[in-house]
Amino acid sequence: MDMKKPNRRTDMKNVIYYLVTFLLIFTSLSAQELKPVLLPEPQTGGGRPLMQVLKDRKTSRDFSTKKLPEQILSNLLWAACGINRPESGKRTAPTAMNKQEIDIYVSMAEGLYLYNAKSNTLEPVLAEDIREFTGGQGFVKEAPVNLVFVADFSKMRQGAEEQNIFYSATDTGFISQNVYLYCASEGLATVVRGMVDKPALEKKMGLRADQKVILAQTVGYLK
Ligand SMILES: Cc1cc2nc3c(=O)[nH]c(=O)nc-3n(C[C@H](O)[C@H](O)[C@H](O)COP(=O)(O)O)c2cc1C
Repeated sequence: MDMKKPNRRTDMKNVIYYLVTFLLIFTSLSAQELKPVLLPEPQTGGGRPLMQVLKDRKTSRDFSTKKLPEQILSNLLWAACGINRPESGKRTAPTAMNKQEIDIYVSMAEGLYLYNAKSNTLEPVLAEDIREFTGGQGFVKEAPVNLVFVADFSKMRQGAEEQNIFYSATDTGFISQNVYLYCASEGLATVVRGMVDKPALEKKMGLRADQKVILAQTVGYLK
C-alpha cells in the first residue's frame, strides 16, 4: 500500500489554507451582520431661528440611553457635513481648498458606520459596539451616538504635514459646530470631545496610517 508520509510542508499549507478560509468567512460574516442603512431624506426646511439657536448652543454631558430615530440621524449628519449644493458636491461645512478630508464615523450600539454624504447612507464598518473606545468619560458608552471625525490625509497635499494637521483640525471644528447648532435647534444634548485615546480608537476602527481621529462628539437626548 502506498501510504504517503505526512510531510511538514503539506501540513503547513493546510494550516494556512484553513486559517485564510476561516478569516475570510469570519470577516464576511461580521460585515454581513451590519447592513448598509439608507437614511431618510434629510429634512432641510425646518429648524428654529438661527439667533435663538445660538442663544441655546451649549455642551451637555447628561445623556439618556434612548436611541435617535433614523430621520434625526439623517438630519444631524446632513447638518454636520452633508451636501448642500448638489451641483458642485460642496458641503454644509467648509474645508480648506475644498479637500473634504473629514469623514464622519458613527458609533452606535449595533456597530460602527461611515456616513456617505453622496448616497445619504451609513456604510457598515464594524459589527461591534465600540462606543466605549470613543472616549473615557462615563456617558460615552451609554449615549446612543458617538460621532468620530477622522481626517483622511491621503486627500490632502502630500508633504505638507503641519499644514494638513492645522487644516484638518480647523475643518473638524466647523463640522462640530454644525452639530452643536443642530442639537440646539432640536433640543438634543451634545459634547465635542478631545479626550480620546486616539491610537487605541484608530486601531479598533481599523484605520489606515494616513487616517487620524481628530475629535469625537456624543449626541443624544438629555437625561
Ligand atoms: C476642541 C475641544 C475639545 C473638547 N474636549 C472635551 C472633552 O474631551 N470632554 C468634555 O467633556 N468636553 C470637551 N469639550 C467641551 C468643552 O469643555 C466645552 O465646550 C466648554 O466647557 C465650554 O462649554 P460650552 O460648549 O457649553 O460653551 C471640548 C471642546 C472643544 C472645543
